[in-house]
Amino acid sequence: MKTYQITVLKGDGIGPEIVDQAVKVLDKTAEKHGFAVSYNYALLGGAAIDAAGVPLPEETVAACKAADSVLLGAVGGPKWDSQPGHNRPEKGLLGIRKALGLYANLRPAVIFAPLRDASPLKPEIIGESLDIMVVRELTGGIYFGDRGTQEQNGVKSAYDTERYSEPEVERIARVAFDMAMKRNKRLCSVDKANVLDSSRLWRAVIDRMAKEYPEVAVSHLYVDNTAMQLVRDPGQFDVIVTSNMFGDILSDEASMISGSIGMLASASLGDGGLGLYEPIHGSAPDIAGQDIANPLATILSVSMLLRYSLNEPAAADAIEKAVSQVLTLARTKDIYTEGCGAKLVGCKEMGDLVAAQI
Ligand code: IPM
Ligand code: MG
Repeated sequence: MKTYQITVLKGDGIGPEIVDQAVKVLDKTAEKHGFAVSYNYALLGGAAIDAAGVPLPEETVAACKAADSVLLGAVGGPKWDSQPGHNRPEKGLLGIRKALGLYANLRPAVIFAPLRDASPLKPEIIGESLDIMVVRELTGGIYFGDRGTQEQNGVKSAYDTERYSEPEVERIARVAFDMAMKRNKRLCSVDKANVLDSSRLWRAVIDRMAKEYPEVAVSHLYVDNTAMQLVRDPGQFDVIVTSNMFGDILSDEASMISGSIGMLASASLGDGGLGLYEPIHGSAPDIAGQDIANPLATILSVSMLLRYSLNEPAAADAIEKAVSQVLTLARTKDIYTEGCGAKLVGCKEMGDLVAAQI
């Protein structure tokens, strides 16, 4: 039987509990679809700082590189807030994305039909359905640019730099154009070209590449306008491609449209088959250990893992279908509304229910 090697990084806060549910669902899916999964657990973020003094130990990088794919919970928490910038849990996350060359972050915002009532947007704004793919550049821009803090005459100043090279924009644009070709052939590139040089370069590269994809309808929007359009008329979007920081912000916004940030999965990909799969939400330390977190974003990340890294589309579909079915029966607190007809459940029970549907 085919056995896939998955490196699992549970991380901090709710990370361990949501990952446990996702692993349970993956095991059940494997059993039903005729393959096996072998897990290798490694440390990242605050858990790694506690155990090894650094947020991204060498062994973790090696364990990820040796795997077929990587599943991640979430990192960070108040316990490590006093760490210096270079040793924060988040640095571990950025470091692993960079070390694995995962420059393309796919963040699909879809509304599961049973969750229409959980979206804060009015039904007439959501329309028939919602299916947006945010393609976020993940290893460049202001997250990785030159930075520093200086003090002169007793006054401190700090800076971070947004810098993109043409090849960096080209490769993320290629992912986005290819994605658009597989979907509804509409690509919206988001920038701040009315102010930023880096955005003007970004836009020029997109326009140049558009000639290679004559079937794709390309549009450009400023990021402020995009933030507004997402809640005014989200149905206008198919694929959105944008920089690291704008993508971070817009994907949180897009997730809320779908009912809860607890529903959004993501895939981070590079040029090889190796990918890193994680929910887009954070480690939610305030609710950690209480068995109330929503594991569905992590479970849906497993579905993306099966689709994009392991090439097991039928298994991926089975998970999405199971999630959709379970939403009519049960909801965690973040997506539960009075009178929704579903039962209020905790993290573990949600995992059990999804696994049972597979
Ligand atoms: C995300 C997160 C991370 C990011 C943080 C935790 C560093 O917000 O994956 O969206 O900004 O990329
Ligand atoms: Mg974010």
